[in-house]
Amino acid sequence: MLSSIARTTFKPTTRIASRAFVSTWNAVPQGPPDAILGVTEAYKKDTSPNKMNLGVGAYRDDGGKPFVLNAVKKAEQYMIGQNMDKEYAGITGVPSFTKAAGALAYGDDSSVISENRLAIAQSISGTGALRVGAEFLNAWYPHAKNIVVPNPTWGNHIPIMKNAGLSLEKYTYFDKSTNGLNIDGMLEDLHKAPKNTVVLLHACAHNPTGVDPTKEQWDQISQVIKERGHFPFFDMAYQGFASGDCTRDAYALRKFVAEGHQVILAQSFAKNMGLYGERVGSFSVVCADAEEKSRIDSQLKIIIRPMYSNPPIHGAHIVSTVLNTPELKQEWLGEVKHMADRIISMRTKLRNHLENDFGSKKSWNHITDQIGMFCYSGMTPQQVEKIKSDWHVYLTQDGRISMAGISSSNVKYLAEAIHNVTKD
Ligand code: LMR
Repeated sequence: MLSSIARTTFKPTTRIASRAFVSTWNAVPQGPPDAILGVTEAYKKDTSPNKMNLGVGAYRDDGGKPFVLNAVKKAEQYMIGQNMDKEYAGITGVPSFTKAAGALAYGDDSSVISENRLAIAQSISGTGALRVGAEFLNAWYPHAKNIVVPNPTWGNHIPIMKNAGLSLEKYTYFDKSTNGLNIDGMLEDLHKAPKNTVVLLHACAHNPTGVDPTKEQWDQISQVIKERGHFPFFDMAYQGFASGDCTRDAYALRKFVAEGHQVILAQSFAKNMGLYGERVGSFSVVCADAEEKSRIDSQLKIIIRPMYSNPPIHGAHIVSTVLNTPELKQEWLGEVKHMADRIISMRTKLRNHLENDFGSKKSWNHITDQIGMFCYSGMTPQQVEKIKSDWHVYLTQDGRISMAGISSSNVKYLAEAIHNVTKD
């Protein structure tokens, strides 16, 4: 019996093998590596002991190792003791997490929280928040087709918005001649954009340039957005990483809310809590009142359910435990400051080595003027190629350096490498 089944089963296979086999996927072309994550893949293949990965924005300690925060370790220990179950979260996530995440972003004393008018959903980190946000705009914002992002912006912003059906334009942001902000160009572009345009803003520690508006400039940006009836979409992936102070880094977001903008926000805990692989973030919508919040909540659920049903719970419980336990929150705030300070000290050292040890005649003020995880070095794609092939230093094509990948032991080597590829 078995052998007769086997014989019948083999027949079609034999027939297929006898004709020329053409796979269904024959015409699928090889895609390019990701502009940021592809750098890590290339770095991993390099066998040089001097190699440096300055591509992806992921914090490393001064020994160049991934850093798990003490507050996070303690929260996990506590969670083990609680014997938590692994049940599904609701569609919009773990409530104790979303409540604490909203308060961290908008402020404990924010009226959007006390008046119960913040619709907030846990998301698959910042990327997931942006995608839910883009889907939400596409479904419910009548002018969603007009969205503008800074030039340059985080590379993933563009496909996230496009894949959700939105089309993008860029507004002037970076001034190559000063390696700083072109505020006049930015205000002019925002002024010229069609009324009710969605304006994507990096709340702090702009990625990739490390250039943020000053408080006065934020006030000007808020004013033009208001005058034109534009709609602000904040991306806050680095709260705490710019200045070392989470309250200070939330200035722009909170100022816009205080001025009556109905902002939406993508928030991430990847960087400031070191929870890269846990994928914890949130998407939130400032509503007019509690009744409106309830309607928006219901629509967020309708968007999220067919995408991934409900978010993973482990990372959300970590964040919730840290933010809702006063001692752990205090310890965490100190650790955020420590990470930001280490990056700032690397900026000073890098510039110092370039100017004083290697006598570079180029201007490197921007290394210390820029803030957050990245330095937009001004290196050309050719120089980026050369620093990779000759010095085993890996960064993105646009010359962005992830400062978090530099340590006391390799900062001088990096300065020497940068000086060599930029001196002619
Ligand atoms: C980066 O810009 O390097 C980070 O935001 C990581 C990523 O996913 O691109």
